Amino acid sequence: MVVLTPLLCLVGIFKLAIGVPVDAPLPLPISDLVFRGELGGHEVEFNGTIQEVYAQVAATHPSFNTRSQLDTNIALAAASPIQITKRNKAHHFCNQNIGKPWLPAKVTYIEDGIKYLSTSPYPLPHPPLYPDLTIPAESKGKCGVQSGHCARISCSWDSAIFLCNDRLDFIEPSCAYLASYAEDLIDWCKTEVSGMGSAVAGQLFDTDSYNVLVRYSNC
Ligand SMILES: *[C@@H]1O[C@H](CO)[C@@H](O)[C@H](O)[C@H]1NC(C)=O
Repeated sequence: MVVLTPLLCLVGIFKLAIGVPVDAPLPLPISDLVFRGELGGHEVEFNGTIQEVYAQVAATHPSFNTRSQLDTNIALAAASPIQITKRNKAHHFCNQNIGKPWLPAKVTYIEDGIKYLSTSPYPLPHPPLYPDLTIPAESKGKCGVQSGHCARISCSWDSAIFLCNDRLDFIEPSCAYLASYAEDLIDWCKTEVSGMGSAVAGQLFDTDSYNVLVRYSNC
């Protein structure tokens, strides 16, 4: 190890120097999303990406139709007042402005993930941080992540949305609220990548010590 470490560092510097795309590791260990809430009239508790949550509901409830649930989500998101989704957001990084540490994801596939996450019309940012607050019925799906981990909350076609928790406690913000972070990252960081088309990678921080990261991930 003593011999290897400086060698690996040299390789890293060399890669950066010749402009080969790098794929920086996530700032925290990766874990599953801990999903809790209602989906298509069913109470669900499942660990995995949001796409795996839908697949699980479809497998256990044959009447559940993923396509029509996504259509409902799109309609709900369209009816959601945008200013509510703006609170608590802090600074952000776009991949292309910080030396491209991440491989980008295709915008269309991130938008697909956003549809899966948009399970409620009036997302609340942090139900668990305000225990006295009654969670409105509309805030249906909650995206949980352990302390000190990045949960891969959405991943399809190698395009992922992560929720990274720098806090010392478990958090479970509304999935729809987190979807609005991914939407903002598309708006602010979208760029044309040759051979790929419209692509995005970036990180948006919340004032409560968590952040949402959009980038390539193998799935
Ligand atoms: C999901 O994971 C958490 C810990 O990460 C665990 O406490 C919980 O029981 C798991 N839930 C299911 C449904 O497996």
